Amino acid sequence: MTDEWGPLGPLVGDWEAAGGLDAAFSHSKGEVLQTPYLEKVTFKPFGPVDNGDQHLYGLDYKTAMWRGDEDNPFHTEVGYWLWDGATDEILRGFVVPRGITVLAGGTAAADATSFTLHAKKGGDLYTIGENQYLAKNASTLSYEVTITITGDTWSYAETTMLQMKEFAEPFAHTDHNTLRRVG
Ligand code: HEM
Repeated sequence: MTDEWGPLGPLVGDWEAAGGLDAAFSHSKGEVLQTPYLEKVTFKPFGPVDNGDQHLYGLDYKTAMWRGDEDNPFHTEVGYWLWDGATDEILRGFVVPRGITVLAGGTAAADATSFTLHAKKGGDLYTIGENQYLAKNASTLSYEVTITITGDTWSYAETTMLQMKEFAEPFAHTDHNTLRRVG
């Protein structure tokens, strides 16, 4: 991809991997489970998007994760990645269909191959919205993801801190995977 997409350029395309691992509290089992998963991700480029003098280039993305041989994914996301070449600001805005939206942000140079984005509940810039049930029972306090791009693969490691009614202390819901290019 051309320079306009900065650090996001190498992500354009289709990616897959079976090596994902999720740590979450399972309501059906009543305990914290480590769940391996298969993931398929697609990134499509667009841009520019102009906000006055600001010119953003982005990727629209969707991802889905399956456990075992189940037909339906147990987690999906749709959203946008955005990069502002004038300020190096990088953003990931996405929806988790539990009723959660996240706008995570940070900075990354045009040639960066590793960067970290974060959001926190009530944050001025980068923040999290959630539904009424989750606010009472499993509220997302913060979200942080580190991306590492190595060419034919890219990896993420993310931590979603949840205030869950089952635990007195915030619980670290974590996910990581290394994706390989399939298209
Ligand atoms: C690879 C990414 C992710 C996977 C595979 C995943 C998977 C899961 C799983 C298996 C559960 C347990 C559901 C249950 O058995 O009750 C869960 C719960 C939850 N996840 Fe995720 N998750 C991911 C990312 C996220 C993100 C990014 C957020 C928010 C920013 C999030 C928010 C939540 C919340 C709030 C719950 C608790 C729901 C409840 O307890 O009622 N997850 N997730």
